[in-house]
Amino acid sequence: MKKNMAIERIVSGMRPTGNLHLGHYNGVLKNWIQLQHESECFFFVADWHALTTHYDSPEVIEQNVWEMVIDWLAAGIDPAHATVFIQSKVPEHAELHTLLSMITPLGWLERVPTYKDQQEKLSAKDLSTYGFLGYPLLQSADILIYKATQVPVGEDQVPHVEFTREVARRFNHLYGKEPGYEEKAQLAIKKLGSKKGKLYHELKDAYQEEGDDQALEAGQSLIEEHQSLSIGDKERLLGYLEGGGKIILLEPEYKLAPASKMIGLDGQKMSKSYNNTVALRESVEDVQKKIKTMPTDPARVRRTDPGDPNKCPVWQLHQVYSKDDVQDWVRKGCSSAGIGCIECKQPIIDAITKELKPMQERAIHYVENPDLVKSVVAEGCEKAGKLARETMREVREAMGLDF
Ligand code: TRP
Ligand code: SF4
Repeated sequence: MKKNMAIERIVSGMRPTGNLHLGHYNGVLKNWIQLQHESECFFFVADWHALTTHYDSPEVIEQNVWEMVIDWLAAGIDPAHATVFIQSKVPEHAELHTLLSMITPLGWLERVPTYKDQQEKLSAKDLSTYGFLGYPLLQSADILIYKATQVPVGEDQVPHVEFTREVARRFNHLYGKEPGYEEKAQLAIKKLGSKKGKLYHELKDAYQEEGDDQALEAGQSLIEEHQSLSIGDKERLLGYLEGGGKIILLEPEYKLAPASKMIGLDGQKMSKSYNNTVALRESVEDVQKKIKTMPTDPARVRRTDPGDPNKCPVWQLHQVYSKDDVQDWVRKGCSSAGIGCIECKQPIIDAITKELKPMQERAIHYVENPDLVKSVVAEGCEKAGKLARETMREVREAMGLDF
């Protein structure tokens, strides 16, 4: 186990609305695959979130749930390192969503920028539904129920994580003041032992009196690393450190995925809605065909016309897939008409085919053994469910539902 394992818990989800493509791979999955070796990771299929926009085509979701899990596993998500599950199979997410809805001001939801943006973008669909307005709150429940410390997301999802932090803060503010809190916190400090207990006091004072953020971080690590504390004591100490009540729901940080340069076959961002994708399970023939028919610099009408890579989407793919020597060859060959476009595209075809080959081999294994996929998910749901149930016990107790 890595040292920071006890500290970071990562939760992220993806909506099952279509085949995964190279845009998902380069933008999201590569990042997940890396994270699974560094932290405790929970990755789930957000099927309820998909229903908020696809309520009239449930067949899309049904088809894509399992396909998406296969794509993840094929891409390299390893169930030995990451917990993989389906949102709707852990119904506690819905219970937390309902309970959080009691304390979430309507204005907070109406102000989330994706709300109006998506309604405008998907104007063909009636998205003035209760479920769609609640989309970010359902996402908050997904995150808070696991006490995630970090949520890896793209730029567009940052407001949802910020929103989640506000909901957590409001929840803790309303329900974090248990009877006898001060005494319980003092007892928990004793459990740290005298040396660490003294340090805790010092760090707490440094933060509360001088606003020393480093002291706050040091205090948080001190608590996280003290293995024998109960969850309740941990939360008391975390809350007490900051001068508030008990922290029941943890405020997560967002973790922006490294910017992905993945562009589609037409030079726009790769996206299903632009019909410019290369799917992870695209056949070699189709990859060839798609790359060969990609538009190039329109100035190169004949083979002998020189071109400018900056006006060509193929060049953007070279920037993702080719090393410096090949990039040099392209720049020179294009501007001098020394190479033809078909020639220029070959290294891209080779690179994509090579990238996809191991994924496709793994995918076959899972397609042929659907029970294997089901058992990965069943195990993931069980693990996730266990944690979710623990949090719900605390949430119910805090909200007066402990009977
Ligand atoms: N809204 C996210 C998206 O569209 C998907 C999602 C649902 C999610 N629940 C989440 C992402 C929780 C991170 C954490 O990409
Ligand atoms: Fe594009 Fe390459 Fe053709 Fe130049 S040679 S226009 S970079 S495909």
